[in-house]
Amino acid sequence: MSADLRVSIGSLTLNNPVLVASGTFGYGEEFAPYFDLSVLGGVVTKTITLEPRAGNPPPRIAETAAGMLNSIGLANVGVEVFVREKLPALQRYSTAIIVNIAGRSADEFKAVLRRLEECDLRIDGYELNYSCPNVKEGGMAFSARPDVAYEVTVALRKETTRPLIAKLTPNVTRIGEIARAVAEAGADAVSAINTLVGMAVDHRTRTPKLATVVGGLSGPAIKPVALAKVWEIKNAVSIPIIGVGGIQNYEDVLEFMLVGASAVQVGTANFVTPDCAARIVRDLESYCDREGIDRLADLVGRLNVEC
Ligand SMILES: Cc1cc2nc3c(=O)[nH]c(=O)nc-3n(C[C@H](O)[C@H](O)[C@H](O)COP(=O)(O)O)c2cc1C
Repeated sequence: MSADLRVSIGSLTLNNPVLVASGTFGYGEEFAPYFDLSVLGGVVTKTITLEPRAGNPPPRIAETAAGMLNSIGLANVGVEVFVREKLPALQRYSTAIIVNIAGRSADEFKAVLRRLEECDLRIDGYELNYSCPNVKEGGMAFSARPDVAYEVTVALRKETTRPLIAKLTPNVTRIGEIARAVAEAGADAVSAINTLVGMAVDHRTRTPKLATVVGGLSGPAIKPVALAKVWEIKNAVSIPIIGVGGIQNYEDVLEFMLVGASAVQVGTANFVTPDCAARIVRDLESYCDREGIDRLADLVGRLNVEC
């Protein structure tokens, strides 16, 4: 018997709950040599902006004890090249294509979305990057303030009937408030979390390890924070949550699902083991068979908090 691994994110049904996180999987095709991308629940592409961006100056990556710091700063090819050269290559895989977008203003977000809506290619949903901590103009503003997150989401909701997933930052006091604002504005789901603001220092040279001084911390170090944020969001809204942060194996996925995530994204782990998301899908299948679980989705939110 094979378990049913399908999960729903609003109107979107994923083959399984395992997606790969924006910015850690290129535009998708880069990982095709390592495994068949069709085994994934979905691919979330690198954040796309209206114009191409070079990102921040190097060094923009630093290793830490249990993860990494980055200050890429949304380097990307821009929406035109994305539509012409990157998106077509993904069409052949039977995995959900979630396009992650960002802008310096609500108008830029809108312009990127419109351009994508105009193209004739398959797009299964959008992830709205409200949360990048590494952009000088303050990408953070969109998910640090509920009123701003609300307004941008309302504006984008008018532009598309495709699923909208708002990606939230953990670098706020009450993430539940932001989740409530985007849910009220019509977002179909939220993903949480983006990276945590962090810093690394070289004591010999007495310099920061990143050119931008501070950057975004990701990897196993942030998993406990991500679980707590998913839990907080679960208690604030009823729209589906996609858990992100430090996931490396199927047991991590089970933890996020129990806490309330309907699906998850694998990020930094892709840099360590390029086919790890595929392995996680296989391991979830084996787990369900072993435990006699018919529908993996039944685990969502089943955390026992009586203790
Ligand atoms: C090198 C790098 C680049 C990233 N770029 C983006 C990006 O372009 N857009 C985005 O929404 N998130 C980006 N992220 C954040 C990840 O998608 C994810 O939210 C975060 O890394 C936490 O998950 P993880 O601990 O599994 O990596 C990036 C993360 C890393 C490490």
